[in-house]
Amino acid sequence: MINKILKKRILIPDKVSELTVYAPHIAKNARPGNFVVLRLTPTGERIPLTIADRDPEQGTILIVYLVLGKSTALLDTFAEGDTILDLCGPLGKPTHITRSGKVLCVGGGTGIAAMHHIAKGNYEAGNQVISVIGARSQDLLLFKPELEKISAQVLVATDDGSLGHKGFVTEVLKKYLEDNNDVHEVVAVGPVPMMKAVAGVTAPFDVRTIVSLNSIMVDGVGMCGACRVSVKGETFFACVDGPEFEAAHVDFDELMMRLNAFKSQEKQSMALFEKRQ
Ligand SMILES: Cc1cc2nc3c(=O)[nH]c(=O)nc-3n(C[C@H](O)[C@H](O)[C@H](O)COP(=O)(O)OP(=O)(O)OC[C@H]3O[C@@H](n4cnc5c(N)ncnc54)[C@H](O)[C@@H]3O)c2cc1C
Ligand code: FES
Repeated sequence: MINKILKKRILIPDKVSELTVYAPHIAKNARPGNFVVLRLTPTGERIPLTIADRDPEQGTILIVYLVLGKSTALLDTFAEGDTILDLCGPLGKPTHITRSGKVLCVGGGTGIAAMHHIAKGNYEAGNQVISVIGARSQDLLLFKPELEKISAQVLVATDDGSLGHKGFVTEVLKKYLEDNNDVHEVVAVGPVPMMKAVAGVTAPFDVRTIVSLNSIMVDGVGMCGACRVSVKGETFFACVDGPEFEAAHVDFDELMMRLNAFKSQEKQSMALFEKRQ
C-alpha cells in the first residue's frame, strides 16, 4: 500500500528514527539532494524531509527525522504498518554530480542522513568521497557504518571528544584542506551555524562549496514563498531553486532569522500536542 511504513528503526531513542516507506514512484525518480514533503493529518502541517536513500527495486525510500516539534513528535507516534497520509516528491533540484575527483561531504547532526545520499551519489559517479561527520557525542553520530562503505575516509568530530576529534567538524575540514590540495568540491548538510562556518572555512581555499538549506517550507512547489532565501543579493525559493546553493553567496544571518520567526507558535503547538497525548 502506497505510503505505508514498512520498517521503523530507532537510531537515537526518543530523538532520531529512520523510516522505510513504500513509495514506488518517488523511489524510482528520486536523486541525491531531493526531499519529500509529508502531511500526517488532513489539517496537519506539511514538513520537508530529505530522502536519505532509496531502493527503486523494492519501491522504498528512507527518511530520517529528528523529533524537534509537534509534527515530528506526531510522526514519531507512527509505527510499522501505519500509513502516511500525503507524501509528495521527489522535490527540489537534485545535486549536480559529475565525475570530478575528490569530494568532501560534511554532515552535522541529523544532516548526516541527508548527506549520505549525496555521498553515495558521488561514490556511484566514480568520485573519491571523504566524509567528515560531527555530533555532540559518539552515541548521536548517525550513518557512520553506511558512510564507511562508500568513503575512502570517514573523519569524525564530537563536541565532547568521545570519538575522533574533540570539537567541531569545521576544524577537521580546515585541517584536511590545509593538508590536501586535491579537493574538487565540498558539500555540507547540517545545522545552519555549521553550514555558515563551513562557508567561512572553505572561502580562502577557493574550493567550490555547496550547502543544502533547511529553510521553512510550506507547499514545496514554488507557490507560497515561505522558503525564500537570499543568495548573492537575489531572492530564490529553496524548494524549487535549491535546496542546494553555493555557500559563499548565501545570506545565512537572514536564513537564521527566518527560521526563528515562528518559534513561539511552534512552542505553543508542541505544548498543546503534549497536553493531548
Ligand atoms: C537540507 C537539509 C535537510 C535536512 N533534512 C533533515 C531531515 O530529513 N530530517 C531531520 O530531522 N533533519 C534534517 N536536517 C537536519 C537539521 O536541520 C539539523 O541537523 C538539526 O536541526 C540539528 O541537529 P542537531 O541538534 O543534531 O545538531 P547539533 O548536535 O546541534 O550539531 C551537530 C554538529 O554540527 C556541528 N556544528 C554545530 N554548530 C556549529 C557551529 N556553530 N560551528 C561549526 N560547527 C557546528 C558540530 O560538529 C556539531 O556536533 C536537514 C538539514 C538540512 C540542511
Ligand atoms: S515552500 Fe512554498 S515556495 Fe517554496
